[in-house]
Amino acid sequence: MERRLLTLTGLALSVVVASCTGSDDAAPATDGGAAQAPAVEERPLSDAVALYSGGTQPSCAFCHGAKGEGAMMGPALDGLGEDWTIDELASFISDPPAYAADHARLTELAGRYQMPMPKPSGFDASDSRVMARWLLEGMPR
Ligand code: HEC
Repeated sequence: MERRLLTLTGLALSVVVASCTGSDDAAPATDGGAAQAPAVEERPLSDAVALYSGGTQPSCAFCHGAKGEGAMMGPALDGLGEDWTIDELASFISDPPAYAADHARLTELAGRYQMPMPKPSGFDASDSRVMARWLLEGMPR
């Protein structure tokens, strides 16, 4: 009786060992396929609404007005499509002083206000881009 149990246990063990080794050998090569970077997904424009009113300090709204109507510290944000593409606007928002330095219209515009537009602290490239898209495509006017 005891011998049979031991034999069975031994058998079971060797089956387990064999199947482990077997699965190792049969492991499919997963890294051979064409691993592609995932397509860039555009963020929802609604993300920009929160960024506009509180994503950086002072907020965009503080200087440009809650609806972009313009305020004491910054110009109205309408008709932007005449001067900007999304890419240009995203790069301006990422670093306004650097961008304005190469653009006479912006330098002149900045001169009408108490201070030029500062770099929005805490914004990353994706924040600047969704903001640019929203200003050109979705901002309520
Ligand atoms: C401290 C005030 C201030 C803050 C904060 C500010 N801006 Fe400005 N913004 C300005 C001023 C002044 C200008 C004029 C150009 C310049 O200074 O470079 C300007 C220019 C702009 C322009 C170009 C307008 C045109 O006629 O082409 C856009 C677009 C803009 N701001 C969007 C934003 C957004 C989006 C934010 C928030 C991320 C923001 N601004 C935050 C003051 C501000």
